[in-house]
Amino acid sequence: MLRLGLGCAIVVASTAATFAQDGEAIFRQQCASCHLLEEGRHRVGPSLHGIVGAPAGAVEGFRYSPALRASGLTWDPETLSAFLMDPRGTIPGNRMSYRGMDDQDDIDAVITYILERSN
Ligand code: HEC
Repeated sequence: MLRLGLGCAIVVASTAATFAQDGEAIFRQQCASCHLLEEGRHRVGPSLHGIVGAPAGAVEGFRYSPALRASGLTWDPETLSAFLMDPRGTIPGNRMSYRGMDDQDDIDAVITYILERSN
């Protein structure tokens, strides 16, 4: 919780803070078993440090599926949204065993959280 206090980048304090809170909870429940935000620390999935704006399949020290490496995507909020909504449909053959999220607000919140925590 204290980590939220570091959000000097938060411009519209109240809405962004609500966002960050939801995003953190969603990340913890749905992503953290496989992903950390600390640089260079991988679990089943790669570290998501700095992932927003990065090319897909390029985190050092993680062995990606050929499908993810060859996707040619760059992770911006649009491509991330599509991927989190439907991982299999967006990059067929990738190895992320996650069924996807169906709520755009939840997706936006988790992307905002990842951005604030790690970029
Ligand atoms: C069951 C484990 C698991 C869960 C849960 C999971 N992921 Fe993943 N994720 C992976 C794996 C494994 C990969 C690498 C897939 C590959 O190489 O095909 C991956 C890849 C990714 C990538 C691409 C990374 C890159 O470097 O290109 C993103 C972005 C991502 N996950 C975000 C998320 C988010 C956000 C959540 C939660 C909403 C989530 N993942 C939940 C296992 C998981």
